[in-house]
Amino acid sequence: MLRVGIIGCGDIANLNVLGYLGSQDTELIAVCDTDIKSAGEKLERWGLRSIKIYKDYKKMIDHEDLDIVEILTPHHLHFPMTEYCAQAGVSGISVQKPLAHTITDCEKMIQVCKRENVKLKLFENFRFYPIFLYAKELLDQGIIGEPLNFRINSIGTGGPGLTLFSRDLNSLIWRMKVETCGGGPFIYDDGIHKFSMALWLMGERRVEKVYSWINYFTGVADTPNYIFWKYPSKNSDEPPKYGSMQFTLAPNLYYPSNYYDCDEYIEISGTKGIIWLNQCTSGGNYISRSPQFPPVVVYVDGEVKSFGENLPRDWRYSFINSTEHFIDVIKSGGKPIYTGEEGKNLCIFAKMPYISQQQKRPIYWEEITVENEQNGECVVEQPENQDFSGLTKFNRMKKRDMRKGIRDGLKHQQFKFQYEYEE
Ligand SMILES: NC(=O)c1ccc[n+]([C@@H]2O[C@H](COP(=O)([O-])OP(=O)(O)OC[C@H]3O[C@@H](n4cnc5c(N)ncnc54)[C@H](O)[C@@H]3O)[C@@H](O)[C@H]2O)c1
Repeated sequence: MLRVGIIGCGDIANLNVLGYLGSQDTELIAVCDTDIKSAGEKLERWGLRSIKIYKDYKKMIDHEDLDIVEILTPHHLHFPMTEYCAQAGVSGISVQKPLAHTITDCEKMIQVCKRENVKLKLFENFRFYPIFLYAKELLDQGIIGEPLNFRINSIGTGGPGLTLFSRDLNSLIWRMKVETCGGGPFIYDDGIHKFSMALWLMGERRVEKVYSWINYFTGVADTPNYIFWKYPSKNSDEPPKYGSMQFTLAPNLYYPSNYYDCDEYIEISGTKGIIWLNQCTSGGNYISRSPQFPPVVVYVDGEVKSFGENLPRDWRYSFINSTEHFIDVIKSGGKPIYTGEEGKNLCIFAKMPYISQQQKRPIYWEEITVENEQNGECVVEQPENQDFSGLTKFNRMKKRDMRKGIRDGLKHQQFKFQYEYEE
């Protein structure tokens, strides 16, 4: 039995724990959080009341002889926690995305894990979403020819769901500060998933250059925004490849989710076809049940085909699959998905839009380095005049819209989970 510990029992712990709860190969031994109450509530919810709670992660690591540790804390803590676990002999460390708040810390994490012979994993769950895994198989079979253009619309909706904006205040505050988050809550935090898809689905390891516009509409968060990039050209006979990502705010959009109040729509154009991937985070809601939005749609050779209707669309499977993969790596060998290096690449990609906005020019991949971070040339700046009252106003507007919707006869006032659904 592999002995597992969790550091950080906030929101995401509820999803990260699922793969361990169902595993025959692991046992959750202890959890740690500076907020004991929050940790206790999680253990109640998971039906694991007898598990030990630590307030100090170092004590948990020193006392529990753990094989796997999940690090689920604010981003600036990822390096010190990884370093401590690695030096204490933990053999598998899984760090929630992004790998760290700076490229410097990413590099230090990679080095310490290499020195101590530790498997370091960057936990990015979109990479394990069943629909996306299936779509990747189709892409690898060449269903649309060579992929040329990637587009993702990441839409922040009106819920109901776990809101991206008004979770507990501490959770919001560390995400708004560059020194603890590394950027903002949309592009640097949530965006890591989308940058991951922009590389993996396109079969690329990096991009050449990025340009962006970022608006801080609510006064605090880095959205709405528009980001676009060019992939490196492999040879001059191929058409150049581009990609783009937009974070949209749609506070009036009634869009139930079991998780965060957002969703993703991807379109990839290839030399001979187009593929659409409908939904991820809020998969399973009303859109999924409509015949117009099958999970995967392909247009090729004069025909439209849909795929994946029998696959699970609930987002939690992406977490379970990711954890199961890591358990297998620790048990049987192999590389985590993602490795530390790949995790660092996603951080480089996610820093580029901020630096582009700051310097009002396209930013090249090679510019985002440890050296340039040290000499101040690629440091994300804290946006000026951040004002939380903008956020309060925005949240009030969302609530008002929802109340009005209900008064006006909104058909579904409450979201029911997939298998409990009744008309
Ligand atoms: N994969 C996803 O879709 C996804 C979604 C949300 C968050 N995340 C990532 O998960 C991580 C945690 O995010 P969250 O939303 O759960 O944050 P959160 O703020 O809800 O939880 C963080 C927890 O860490 C605890 N903590 C802070 N300092 C600590 C310390 N020194 N020792 C022990 N515990 C400490 C806090 O008390 C809190 O309970 C982040 O890296 C975030 O980007 C991933």
